[in-house]
Amino acid sequence: MAVDDRVEELRRRKEATKVGGGAERIEQQHAKGKLTARERVDLLLDPGTFVETDMFVEHRASDFGMDKRRIAGDGVVTGYGAIDGRTVFVFSQDFTVFGGSLGETHANKIVKIMDMAMKVGAPVIGLNDSGGARIQEGVISLGGYAEIFFRNVLASGVVPQISAILGPCAGGAVYSPAMTDFTIMAKNSSYMFITGPEVIKTVTGEDVTFEQLGGAMTHNEKSGVAHFAADDEKGALRLIRKLLSYIPSNNVEDPPILMSEDPSDRRDPELAAVVPRDSDKPYDMRDVITRVVDRGSWLEVQEHWAQNMVVGFARLAGRPVGVVGNQPKVLAGTLDINSSTKGARFVRFCDCFNIPLLTFVDVPGFLPGTAQEYGGIIRNGAKLLFAFSEATVPKVTVITRKAYGGAYDVMCSKHIRGDMNFAWPSAELAVMGPEGAVQIIFRKEIDAAADPKAREAELVREYREKFANPYIAARMGYLDDIIEPPETRPRVVNAFAMLRSKRETRPPKKHGNIPL
Ligand code: HXC
Repeated sequence: MAVDDRVEELRRRKEATKVGGGAERIEQQHAKGKLTARERVDLLLDPGTFVETDMFVEHRASDFGMDKRRIAGDGVVTGYGAIDGRTVFVFSQDFTVFGGSLGETHANKIVKIMDMAMKVGAPVIGLNDSGGARIQEGVISLGGYAEIFFRNVLASGVVPQISAILGPCAGGAVYSPAMTDFTIMAKNSSYMFITGPEVIKTVTGEDVTFEQLGGAMTHNEKSGVAHFAADDEKGALRLIRKLLSYIPSNNVEDPPILMSEDPSDRRDPELAAVVPRDSDKPYDMRDVITRVVDRGSWLEVQEHWAQNMVVGFARLAGRPVGVVGNQPKVLAGTLDINSSTKGARFVRFCDCFNIPLLTFVDVPGFLPGTAQEYGGIIRNGAKLLFAFSEATVPKVTVITRKAYGGAYDVMCSKHIRGDMNFAWPSAELAVMGPEGAVQIIFRKEIDAAADPKAREAELVREYREKFANPYIAARMGYLDDIIEPPETRPRVVNAFAMLRSKRETRPPKKHGNIPL
């Protein structure tokens, strides 16, 4: 039977929307090692699940000759589909159309899927490739951005929001990602900046390349703006799928369970040897984490930034947990401004989305120095204290070695409502390390001694025996148990199973006032 000519027309029109800015611009996009907006969506979603919305939308601008340049879709592909069978909403900016820049109708399309995602409780994934506010549309573009920013805030803590940066993103195109939960950049083809190299040259005289200013490693190593650096676009899209496997679709769901072959009661004899006997020797906290969690389930977040703190997702007996650990290998695991901020943001994400927290502690204290004090370590360290305190998800803490000073309190101690707090026999819990403590409380006695050095060594030994162990804290009930390192996995699996029905609330309020 012949197809109705109106249906023919529909098919023709739909087909025409697929070419975006045209074959030549698509070729240019490919030549830069970039995929098109539609290719990205296809790779991101389960095959055949994408349902496109608003493909016929066009802009309404007429200034600067824009009335003669209308392209169906207006530079962004929007819709929904599935990742591992779960619904997600996606927008994918098309750099071949006005450089992916955002005007009124482009913004409206994004706003529409964000509103729908909120209604149905599904994640929003943004694939960003945009020159920012569409200059020809002036303040209307700024209005469009602000509508998106406002929804980013409304959606924060309600549905997960994930941003991939897959091109040169400038101006407004970086502020929306900044308000989402995770930002993933593709190496060598993605850039984020508020003002580009040319403007910087004019204003400050600095010479800087795109890569140095806002490349993937700049934001993963230096600024902490991005959470992941993928080798290429395909890697970035795969990472989004993996990341979502740890996260529920919204704040009233529990995270997805992915059964593991790794037995819950697996003891790991190697754990007995990870922490060196000499308490000043470093080790890699990831060697502890990966031996405790389900084999192969560790996904580190922000692995290149503030490396004195390790954060990431893993599973225990198939159930996702957020892991936070001090890293003795870097800056002796001290807390500083960046590591506190990194930890606080991760803890708050987990708490928003019902992901229990497993904390590994080996912290000698806060990093001393004028740079830290002038930079506001007091205000920034307080963020982590605040975040752990307000979190009501199940919280299990394991102290592997040092837990000194304020940092002991901060790192999910019993006092700020750790639910189950364990220590290894190698743990040292005190106000400060033996050397520092002895210098302060016995200075006069040491100075007066016939052999000050020998007296100091003796006092250090005494202090260590008395305080640098877990037994005083255990006696006070600050620790629920002291456990043998090899039994850590079975013990934390058991603790989280017990805590599964945990219900804890904080006093009702509009919102707290985290020290920003
Ligand atoms: C309109 C734009 C555009 C924009 C790029 N294009 N950015 N059109 N508005 N903001 C168009 C170009 O005119 C060009 O069209 C096409 O997109 C490709 O751009 P190129 O410059 O040829 O590409 P490339 O060399 O790869 O450089 C990409 C770029 C650069 C780095 C993104 O285009 C750029 O610097 N754009 C401006 C960035 C910016 O300052 N945006 C405004 C930010 S203000 P033709 O047809 O010639 O090929 C902002 C305010 C929001 O966003 C604030 C909220 C807080």
